[in-house]
Amino acid sequence: MNELDTLVDRARNDFAQAATPADLENAKARYLGKAGRITELMKGMGALSVDEKKSLGASINLAKQAIEAALAERRQALADAEMQTQLKAEALDVTLPGRQRGAGGLHPVSLTLERIEAIFGSMGFDVAEGPEIESDWFNFTALNTPEDHPARSMHDTFYVEGGSAKAPNLLRTHTSPMQIRHAVQHVKRHRAAIDADAGMPEIRVIAPGRTYRVDSDATHSPMFHQCEGLWIGENVSFKDLKVVFTDFCRTFFENDDLVLRFRPSFFPFTEPSAEIDIQFPTGPLAGRWLEVAGSGQVHPNVVRNMGLDPERYIGFAFGMGPDRLTMLRYGVNDLRLFFDGDVRFLSQFR
Ligand code: PHE
Repeated sequence: MNELDTLVDRARNDFAQAATPADLENAKARYLGKAGRITELMKGMGALSVDEKKSLGASINLAKQAIEAALAERRQALADAEMQTQLKAEALDVTLPGRQRGAGGLHPVSLTLERIEAIFGSMGFDVAEGPEIESDWFNFTALNTPEDHPARSMHDTFYVEGGSAKAPNLLRTHTSPMQIRHAVQHVKRHRAAIDADAGMPEIRVIAPGRTYRVDSDATHSPMFHQCEGLWIGENVSFKDLKVVFTDFCRTFFENDDLVLRFRPSFFPFTEPSAEIDIQFPTGPLAGRWLEVAGSGQVHPNVVRNMGLDPERYIGFAFGMGPDRLTMLRYGVNDLRLFFDGDVRFLSQFR
């Protein structure tokens, strides 16, 4: 093996030993750099004859090409290795599902409220909303429930700051305060006609919203929903209550065979009063009476607090539980599921 072949072999070896691109460039300099072995051999040819230059030059060139080829090969190998490590480090699992923005949907109770509003809307009822922090007057006193009235203990009330010791503020325990609030506004708007004995347009309104009581189990939540209904005119009777509410329930549950029962009860703000129960003719709940609302003919004292003459204006009110209606409609047995915020549960109603 001549000197050039040995040189090429050594270069190949050195290149193979180089573990990084920087090592490789250092190794290259030893052969092909300004002071490298090949360069020195070329310089050393100056003293030779023309023929010797020709043959030695050709051999040196071959050696140089062989070394350059080995260098290029090693460069590529190092670059490939580098790429492999990088790919491993930044591995992307392209089989993972992409991140999606899930389609939202209305809460099941919101769906029920929308349904209630649509049905009563079709019967000519307005929709009104009122404050959840309420005064003692609207929540109790104006509804014929004076201080120390035993009926107040039927509602486990959350009291909040504000108001006075005699008339504290509270979280409304029902939507019935909206009977007064809405009627007072309505009467104010039509005061002139009422005083001129020309009568007023009927009050026909529902008032859905959040209500609060100190209560918590599978069928009670400290925050729950109610929807109040009020119809006041000159000739609105208990019969109208039965017709309107029966129609509502049958439409809501899409079942014309649904049976209703008006069970005598007591509320300070209605007289007579009735609890409304429904019964499904078929299905898993068939045969059971299920309470869905309180109701009654509006008490004369309440009509007076609306600013109207109870000798002339009468009507009915009801307060139903949209949470209960939602449970019955979808067959949900624990009210708390509605308010836990678990998307696995809620997304079923989309
Ligand atoms: N406010 C009553 C309750 O929460 C329900 C009701 C409303 C009863 C209107 C009669 C009339 O229990």
